[in-house]
Amino acid sequence: MKIALLPGDGIGKEIVPEAVKILKALSSAGLAFDMEEAPIAGAGVDAADDPLPPETLALCRRSDAILFGAAGAPQYEALPRTKRPGLGLLRLRKELALFANYRPAKLLPELRNATTLKPEVVDGLDLLILRELNGDIYFGEPRGRVEQEGAEREAINTMRYKESEIARIAHVAFRVARGRSRKLCSVDKANVLETMVLWRQVVTEIGKQYPDVALTHMYVDAAAMALVRAPKDFDVILTGNMFGDILSDEAAMLTGSIGMLPSASLGEGKKGLYEPIHGSAPDIAGRNIANPLATILSAAMMLRYSFDLPDAADQIEQAVRRVLAAGLRTADIAEPGTTVVGTREMGDAVAAAL
Ligand code: IPM
Ligand code: MG
Repeated sequence: MKIALLPGDGIGKEIVPEAVKILKALSSAGLAFDMEEAPIAGAGVDAADDPLPPETLALCRRSDAILFGAAGAPQYEALPRTKRPGLGLLRLRKELALFANYRPAKLLPELRNATTLKPEVVDGLDLLILRELNGDIYFGEPRGRVEQEGAEREAINTMRYKESEIARIAHVAFRVARGRSRKLCSVDKANVLETMVLWRQVVTEIGKQYPDVALTHMYVDAAAMALVRAPKDFDVILTGNMFGDILSDEAAMLTGSIGMLPSASLGEGKKGLYEPIHGSAPDIAGRNIANPLATILSAAMMLRYSFDLPDAADQIEQAVRRVLAAGLRTADIAEPGTTVVGTREMGDAVAAAL
């Protein structure tokens, strides 16, 4: 089981080692992981002047799974687009055709008071955002600055989807819904955008092959509202790349902290990219205060999806819950009466519980 470790930038360098700690704790119980680290994002620019150095991509190609930390730091913000840290991650998702991004938002009962919403709104929350990851305005051409002599500055991005790209993520969504409560809500903006009219058409057509799944459609603005008003009405949400980016940050806050949410990105096979949905948090980087749990839970998803080790994945999730139940918290999820610990101490506690 070969794992590429890509800590990246900011708190990525602190949280990935905590997930490694957990995987090593499992190694001592007989599971052998071969882990190799490589630079990506800003760290890739520093090491090889490229946010996705060729050696890093090659390592990812020959690995069975990839654990990614975070991308971005202030010192890279002025670089041209091709050198921006986030592009390393976007290119990796695209190069490996990891088009299906699973972003589960599950409220752990131990954290019911950590959310800014009324606990009864989120109690028992367990939804999944399935985000298309290889298309949309993130990759659409034409893009860039419009160069026109004497004119004011202008820039362009293009929202674009091919039927086949919509169909393949729709099939994944219906299959996933079948394994849950057979409810699928597709989120688009078909009242305004042609791309999204096509999205709705294709999803509806594919839905005929899954008559046992109840399919609904929502515009993204209404969905954003419904997600905070009555989040438990949702089970599986299928959406495009950009809307999925936005709605998954919103969904994270339903569970208390963006520091809690793991994700998995898969293609047609078992190879996957696993990462917390949060960013590099330059404001708290290097201070041992970041929450490593989203990354640790991402490692659990890796065991479940790439390595067919559901028991080991369950054990990690239970270890996280035991540590929370014992009252340990990182600063982002602290409540009165709990004990605030640092990044490393949280990782140690989960490893010990495991
Ligand atoms: C995410 C992030 C990325 C995205 C950035 C870092 C490129 O926000 O994974 O949600 O926009 O997809
Ligand atoms: Mg995002």
